[in-house]
Amino acid sequence: MSEDKLGGRFTFPGTSLTVQRIGYGSMQLAGPGVWGPPKDPEGAVAVLREAVAAGVNHIDTADYYGPHLTNQIIRQALHPFPAGLVIVTKLGSRRAPDKSWPLAISPEDLTAGVHDNLRVLGLDALDIVNYRVMGSGHDPVEGSIAEQVTVLAELRREGLIRHIGLSNVTAAQIAEARAITDIVCVQNNYNLTYRHDDALIDDLARQGIAYVPFWPLGGFTPLQSSTLSDVAGRLGATPIQVALAWLLHRSPNILLIPGTSSVAHLRENLAAGQLSLSPQTLAELDGIAAAEMKH
Ligand SMILES: NC(=O)c1ccc[n+]([C@@H]2O[C@H](COP(=O)([O-])OP(=O)(O)OC[C@H]3O[C@@H](n4cnc5c(N)ncnc54)[C@H](OP(=O)(O)O)[C@@H]3O)[C@@H](O)[C@H]2O)c1
Repeated sequence: MSEDKLGGRFTFPGTSLTVQRIGYGSMQLAGPGVWGPPKDPEGAVAVLREAVAAGVNHIDTADYYGPHLTNQIIRQALHPFPAGLVIVTKLGSRRAPDKSWPLAISPEDLTAGVHDNLRVLGLDALDIVNYRVMGSGHDPVEGSIAEQVTVLAELRREGLIRHIGLSNVTAAQIAEARAITDIVCVQNNYNLTYRHDDALIDDLARQGIAYVPFWPLGGFTPLQSSTLSDVAGRLGATPIQVALAWLLHRSPNILLIPGTSSVAHLRENLAAGQLSLSPQTLAELDGIAAAEMKH
């Protein structure tokens, strides 16, 4: 597969980091509940190797997936990392023995989180670190993030982090962070049926900042819609491929990190970059969220 088929390329603003627009999210590689080892450790390694062999050069992770396990698998599968591979990690939480996700947002927690990622991945510096605001689960809530972003900016000055992003944030929090340091990407919950960030995506596109939807396929319960299935049937594609292609068409600053533990699903997801959607089809797909909002 030619690299250009992975949705084309995107350069994070003010950086020398250029990635294919279709990347890979590693959360599904941990065991159930993002806890413990995968059921099929060799399969997890195979997924990562296949992704990189196909041209994927953007992998999303967190040391609290597993915990440590997805980073360990990424290292096992891909270290020494090929030139040009961008690994994006996140801070803001840790895992407790009861599998909960307590906050880890003090200066000491954030610094320890950077060192954990460096140690487990086997790196001297992290390409991009997202500050993930835990707030109310998977929807952002207003509130200052200046203290945490200032800590990350200091770790960047020390050379441990190359670039900074944000996750689960509002437009006001992005503006607050940008007054402190450069922000290269925003990772929020968004997909064909969940479109709270439509205005934000357009604004970030104007600034050249990447928008990386988490749960591009709906997360633990993949998207289902009869319109989506109808469109997919007409195009000879799968609903998942259409959902991913719709995101690629939605805005040029959208980067995909669909998660999967299966090589077959990975191949299906990567092929979405070759799917062209007409203006009529895009309008039909836009109608899915519009119809849901009326309910
Ligand atoms: N910043 C944050 O707060 C945050 C939150 C959640 C996730 N993330 C990141 O975003 C990435 C993507 O999110 P996600 O993995 O949770 O959800 P997702 O990409 O929306 O969906 C993953 C689910 O879809 C299934 N799937 C994937 N490809 C498929 C296909 N071709 N056909 C059928 N089912 C398919 C997967 O199962 P199989 O394994 O069986 O394929 C899995 O159950 C994560 O991996 C993680 O890196 C970030």
